[in-house]
Amino acid sequence: MKLYHDEDADLDLIRHKAIAVIGYGNQGRAQALNLRDSGLNVIVGNRADDYAARAKADRFAVHPIATAVSLADVVMLLIPDEVMPAVYAEQVAPRLRQKAVLVFASGYTVAFEQIALPPAIDAVLVAPRMIGAGVRESYVAGRGFPAFIGVAQDYSGQARAYALALAKAIGATRAGVAEVTFAQEAELDLFTEQCFGPAFGSVLMTSVNLLLDEGYPPEAVLLELYMSGEFAYTLGKIAELGTVEQTALHSTTSQYGSMSRGLRFQIPALRDKLREGLDEIRSGAFAREWAEEQSDGAPTLAMLREAAREMPLYALETELRQALGSQRTDAAIEPLGPPPQVAARATTERRRLIGKLRTWLGRVGWREAEERPTPQPAVPHPASTPADPPAADPIADAAPLDLAALERVLNAFLTDAAVAPALRAFARDRDITTAYRLTDRPLVFHLRFAHGDVTGGMGDPPTPAQVALKMSAATLDGMLSGSLNPTRATLAGDITFEGEARTALTIQRVQKELIRLYAAARTRVLEGT
Ligand code: NAI
Repeated sequence: MKLYHDEDADLDLIRHKAIAVIGYGNQGRAQALNLRDSGLNVIVGNRADDYAARAKADRFAVHPIATAVSLADVVMLLIPDEVMPAVYAEQVAPRLRQKAVLVFASGYTVAFEQIALPPAIDAVLVAPRMIGAGVRESYVAGRGFPAFIGVAQDYSGQARAYALALAKAIGATRAGVAEVTFAQEAELDLFTEQCFGPAFGSVLMTSVNLLLDEGYPPEAVLLELYMSGEFAYTLGKIAELGTVEQTALHSTTSQYGSMSRGLRFQIPALRDKLREGLDEIRSGAFAREWAEEQSDGAPTLAMLREAAREMPLYALETELRQALGSQRTDAAIEPLGPPPQVAARATTERRRLIGKLRTWLGRVGWREAEERPTPQPAVPHPASTPADPPAADPIADAAPLDLAALERVLNAFLTDAAVAPALRAFARDRDITTAYRLTDRPLVFHLRFAHGDVTGGMGDPPTPAQVALKMSAATLDGMLSGSLNPTRATLAGDITFEGEARTALTIQRVQKELIRLYAAARTRVLEGT
């Protein structure tokens, strides 16, 4: 693959063109400033908001988006991909000049056919592999940053040359630019976000679980694994020196240990999971799901954010960050929600938090203990001392149901669910089948919400399930009793699922009703009432 550098690009091609930067956010501001400092003629198109004010303060001529488009030879669309299709259709497409060069910083909207390109324009990609702040800082420091370029439509016959000239003007060819298709850029980007990143996050969470379970102090675990910044520093060195050469920076003990033990982590199932994610991206299934989720007002995203914020690990991280004196450095980051009030937290409150974290994570150990052939009672965590008592946990404390009792409760629950008005209303415009499979009991049951009917029964569903959930009997009992949040339990690894994440989360909208019915069935069956 050829890497393009400064000498491959000709700035003269765009020196006398009017360039409109549409959007003055992360990429917009950085790229507009770099283009202007490269001697080009830049205006900004932005709706009337704080970003427009910032562009004015930076001494740009700021116009409404449609006006800026009509004035420009080169239009750089630097607004969020989520809003781009509507803004493009309403304010950009009708005002694009013939022979204009339309520039994207991400291939997403074109690759997933959310934008229809008029025939008489060039459409190119100039996609920095760098966040906006880095685009500006690297340019000012004279370093440059890598980027992808691409061509979706070449009306002028010079589309690639335009993309290279723009890449040079923002500072990318100083480092090196590679050509890809719009689809490749979008798919690789999504793969990093949806597969590589989460798989890595899962390794991190599993390690935190294991080490806390084994009694290591939570602060030491977080510091060791990532919060000291040592690991991030090593990643920087990997980017600089390569995976093999950077090992020279570590001790020989570290080199021998990581290389010899690394062989254990060649896990075929991991590759299968990554491929599943990639297939979903390439088929367009993710893009369709996300567009649908947004048109519903993004309720699933809100649910996931809330669950992430409620994780005890989030509070402990916040506390540890403050104790280490690290401050949020990027004012543009929108926090997941108000950070917990930790400044004034008393020692006892802190102990309670750590106890809660241990208990919460300890649930994994407790579940494993339950899965052993000889059932064992829940054991107190080795790290829990009388001075540091674990918080009471209704799930961990609940006595697990035996198989026969659980089956009777579930049968009663499924019978009641079939006639529950709230569930039937939920089923009206849907067709969702879920299968629940227990990991520690030979038990499977299913529930289907379809066209106003709710049906369920023991065993596998008659038609393939869109969502298959796996969990221990105690987790199921906790989830349906309302003492365990299913999203949080999934994030913690207590529930694993296969199938459509959004569909799985949609069912949470009737979670309260499911809990009410299950609780009634449980009481009726167990107390014989
Ligand atoms: P951003 O979120 O910083 O964009 C903010 C800008 O969009 C503001 O000027 C705002 O006025 C405008 N905007 C927001 N909603 C709007 C609406 N409904 N109508 C009109 N204008 C609206 O966007 P960001 O992160 O700079 O992304 C821009 C493009 O760059 C996207 O295609 C993204 O995929 C791509 N990209 C972003 C990177 C990053 O560092 N964030 C890295 C590489 C590519």
